[in-house]
Amino acid sequence: MPVAHKIAEFIERSSWIRAMFEAGAKLKAQKGAENVFDFSLGNPNIEPPEKFFEVVSRLVADRTPGRHAYMPNAGYPHVRAKVADYLSREHGPAFSENEIIMTVGAAGALNIVLKAIVDPGAEVVVPTPYFVEYDFYLDNHGGLVKRVPTTATFELDIAAMADAISEKTCAVLINNPNNPSGAVYTQESVDALAAMLTEKSKQLGKAIYLISDEPYRQIVFDGLSVPSIFAAYPNSIVVTSFSKNLSLPGQRIGYAAVHPDIADKGLLLGGMTLANRILGFVNAPGIMQLAVAELLEDAAEVAEYARKRELILGVLDEAGYEYVRPGGAFYVFPKSPIPDDVAFCKLAIEQNLLLVPGSGFMGPGYFRIAYCCDDATIINSVGAFKRTLVAAK
Ligand SMILES: Cc1ncc(COP(=O)(O)O)c(C=O)c1O
Repeated sequence: MPVAHKIAEFIERSSWIRAMFEAGAKLKAQKGAENVFDFSLGNPNIEPPEKFFEVVSRLVADRTPGRHAYMPNAGYPHVRAKVADYLSREHGPAFSENEIIMTVGAAGALNIVLKAIVDPGAEVVVPTPYFVEYDFYLDNHGGLVKRVPTTATFELDIAAMADAISEKTCAVLINNPNNPSGAVYTQESVDALAAMLTEKSKQLGKAIYLISDEPYRQIVFDGLSVPSIFAAYPNSIVVTSFSKNLSLPGQRIGYAAVHPDIADKGLLLGGMTLANRILGFVNAPGIMQLAVAELLEDAAEVAEYARKRELILGVLDEAGYEYVRPGGAFYVFPKSPIPDDVAFCKLAIEQNLLLVPGSGFMGPGYFRIAYCCDDATIINSVGAFKRTLVAAK
């Protein structure tokens, strides 16, 4: 075989994503985009804030010599210092620029963290359902995902997570707010997780890192806020990006932040910085680093997503679907009316309705709706949801 067996297998495993894209493109060409209800992609439909365009225009016009030269692999020191100040205000512990690494999105941040901590065969405990790419990222670095189901309301099951931890465990990875469930883990959950990890680390005689993937941190509703893992647990790392809150997924900019008191700090940060270089990122995009440093305090369009959430929940209520009310991100994860969620999503395609099977997120029996789309798509989808339910029963 001219390509590696593993990548051929991975292409096959992720073929439902391609199938969804192809089905969507074909349907839109046949029926007109306005007649297709595409809830398949977490691509924000809100434009970046006006200030982003002003800042980037200024930066692009700047002819300062060296503006486009190589820089430290961790990113511009003054940008990292601004991120550190922001995090110190938001989370409590006093961060310095040395604890921040600018990255190619949250995906790049996750990969440098995993490259730095995963030995071959090491396990990372991940609550299900979770972002589909984690399996691939872990595999990039020879690690394995240890899956642990969440509760019926998608809250962390701390006892089950404790049972999943062994000598092989190097980290626990949570995603708060969660893609695909929209769950926002509570302060009690995060505190209980921190207490459990402290105890387990003591028992095992090594630090178990807690990694929190937080690109949706600012997108929370009903007065909720995302508890800080930094305030709860010293051996913690946050990975995040500006992809969702500032609608910049195509610009590939994010960062990893490490607790100032984390175990093996020097080695860990040295490893993450080297990983940024040798994974081929070298450094995060320069102009985007400079841009986001001026946009750290800029809020996401939370009210807009809150409004869209009400619209989609109204559609689901009217059509008769069961769901847990999501507290954040821009996803709902309703129950599939039949146990086979893949079969259900195929029936939905026949009604021009594009959903993602929960199995793709290790959450079989559910499906994901990404409601970061225009209002008309949401409002006009009610008939398609009703017809799919009838076809499934
Ligand atoms: C939970 C989660 N983590 C990470 C990412 C990757 O984010 P980025 O595009 O910033 O790399 C996504 C993107 O959808 C996501 O949903």
